[in-house]
Amino acid sequence: MGFFDSAQDVIDKGVSTAKGVVSGVAVERQPFMKGFVRLCADGWNQGWHERNGGNLTYRMTDGEVADCRPFFYENPCNWIPLGVQADNLRGAYFAVTGAGRYMRNVPLDTAKNVGIVEINPEGNACRIVWGLKDGGKPSSEFPSHFMIHSVRVDVTGGSSRVLYHAHPINVVALTSVMPLDARTITRTLWKAMTECIIAFPKGVGVLPWMVPGGAEIAMATSELMKTYDAVIWAQHGLFCSGSDFDSAFGLMHTIEKASDIYVRARLLNGGGEFANTISDEGLRAIARNLGLGINEDFLD
Ligand code: 13P
Ligand code: ZN
Repeated sequence: MGFFDSAQDVIDKGVSTAKGVVSGVAVERQPFMKGFVRLCADGWNQGWHERNGGNLTYRMTDGEVADCRPFFYENPCNWIPLGVQADNLRGAYFAVTGAGRYMRNVPLDTAKNVGIVEINPEGNACRIVWGLKDGGKPSSEFPSHFMIHSVRVDVTGGSSRVLYHAHPINVVALTSVMPLDARTITRTLWKAMTECIIAFPKGVGVLPWMVPGGAEIAMATSELMKTYDAVIWAQHGLFCSGSDFDSAFGLMHTIEKASDIYVRARLLNGGGEFANTISDEGLRAIARNLGLGINEDFLD
């Protein structure tokens, strides 16, 4: 049984119950949750979240967990197996959008469309301790988010907290016409818009089409996230990591905007060679001036 089905099974068998009246700042009014909700609304407004498309997770700080704890369920649901395991996330807490829930509804009813989950001491299961009202369960992509968080915590020394998955139109369109390799797609984006090499100096990882929502895509994405801050899923969407909501959203926005510019330029010239582009020497000069640790393998 995959994560999605086992989550349903666990939730069907037991109902979480809330505490009585509690004092403190409600979870919805905590600064991290305001940032979470704002990103969901911004992504919806960009047109990246048709239906229930996309999902968002945030790894909470100990202080945020303490501030929210009074509002946690008195009797959380049973542990839901994740199908993957991470030692460095034992006992962690995440805010997560709900499976099948719509980004556009997050600001209207946050406690229904978003939850807080606790990871068990073994680092291989989660349970809902707040939100996801009315039988909600964590995003079907939570195993991917979980494995990527684990890798990003390692490679960033713990500063990475946000993972954002969206279905941006132009990024997905590009994967139908371009070779699905990181070097080709990264170079295309770096050369489409000057700021790109600054926003993602390591480049963008690329995965071929895979079945979403399982352990296989989780492992493959987390492997690429050892190198890249963002990974494209062909014919599906994009995963971006960040230390905060601004950086994760900003990365998604930059990659989609560069893709949009490239698509428009290709339409304008009918798919042939471009008259003007940024040279590899030019990209190196930006990196030198700003001291960027660029991926040299992606330059000629
Ligand atoms: P969820 O509704 O389960 O988060 O799935 C949306 C999605 O984008 C799957 O890749
Ligand atoms: Zn998706």
